[in-house]
Amino acid sequence: MSVIEITGLTKDYPTGFLHLKRVRALDGLSLAVEAGEIFGFLGGNGAGKTTAIKILMRLMTPTSGRARILGHDVADVAVHARLGYLPEQPYFYDYLTARELLEYCAELFGYRPTARRARAADLLRRVHLDEAAWDRQLRKFSKGMLQRVGLAQALVNDPEVVLLDEPMSGLDPIGRRQVRDLIAGLRAAGVTVFFSSHIIADIEVLCDRVAILRGGRLAHVGRLDELRQRMDSAGRLEITVIGAPVPALADALRKVDGARVAGTPAGARIDVPSERDVDAALALARGCGARLVAVQPIRQSLEDLFVGDGPRAQHAD
Ligand SMILES: Nc1ncnc2c1ncn2[C@@H]1O[C@H](COP(=O)(O)OP(=O)(O)OP(=O)(O)O)[C@@H](O)[C@H]1O
Ligand SMILES: [Mg+2]
Repeated sequence: MSVIEITGLTKDYPTGFLHLKRVRALDGLSLAVEAGEIFGFLGGNGAGKTTAIKILMRLMTPTSGRARILGHDVADVAVHARLGYLPEQPYFYDYLTARELLEYCAELFGYRPTARRARAADLLRRVHLDEAAWDRQLRKFSKGMLQRVGLAQALVNDPEVVLLDEPMSGLDPIGRRQVRDLIAGLRAAGVTVFFSSHIIADIEVLCDRVAILRGGRLAHVGRLDELRQRMDSAGRLEITVIGAPVPALADALRKVDGARVAGTPAGARIDVPSERDVDAALALARGCGARLVAVQPIRQSLEDLFVGDGPRAQHAD
């Protein structure tokens, strides 16, 4: 059984005058997340990530399709006690202090007064919120500090599954590293993590599998290494040289079909379509006085998959 199962999820938002038009935010999305995975949900602005997460949290209902978590339909409220959720823009009653908010959350989950206090302190420490801020009202918090409090409240109930909508948003580089470590720690404890982001670097270091959403549709899904392998099969190679003027190189390399030459601060980069072209390209470059620095396959990055050129959100009317 998958921990999260999304089947044919479609969501149309009514928009425009009298709500007569509709924007299709999700379009037949199907996904499965397995136990103990860190699953990255990638997509540009407006791709539909938040919509999908809100449907999983039953904060909105889908137009069609269904979603199950831990074997239960998301409409089953009992399962929500086993989940943790960080909203995209956490908003809390901001006259409470960080400690008060977490103690209140712990109370909601049935912690007794002394256990509540210990629980709140433990969580605030885990998200590395500076102890000097624990008893300060949330309205005086910076974006990154609120994000940490949001993460802490998502973990109050020791959830089996956490859904995090842009957990790194607003964090400085140190904070991002701390949150990465925290998420990695959750995996070590057997928690399933589903998190959305458009920061590719965070996804690359953390995730077992990723889904890339584009215009409400699934553009790619798979293990990160598999996705990369699929992209590497393009087979282009990059030859780095120094010591030759770029215009002369560009002129000489016209003889190799599909070769491209670009200047770099130190010399030039020659990009050829396949391994078979390397010798010819190198001989031509040497003819211009170039010296070889390196030959390497061009590794397409996750960014290439992410950017793609698929459709944006569809108008369903
Ligand atoms: N309440 C709403 N009413 C109308 N349209 C909406 C509403 N919320 C979202 N949308 C539209 O649905 C699409 C998906 O939005 P969503 O917030 O799910 O994207 P996202 O992937 O989370 O983007 P971001 O990275 O900017 O957070 C967008 O086209 C957006 O304009
Ligand atoms: Mg969003």
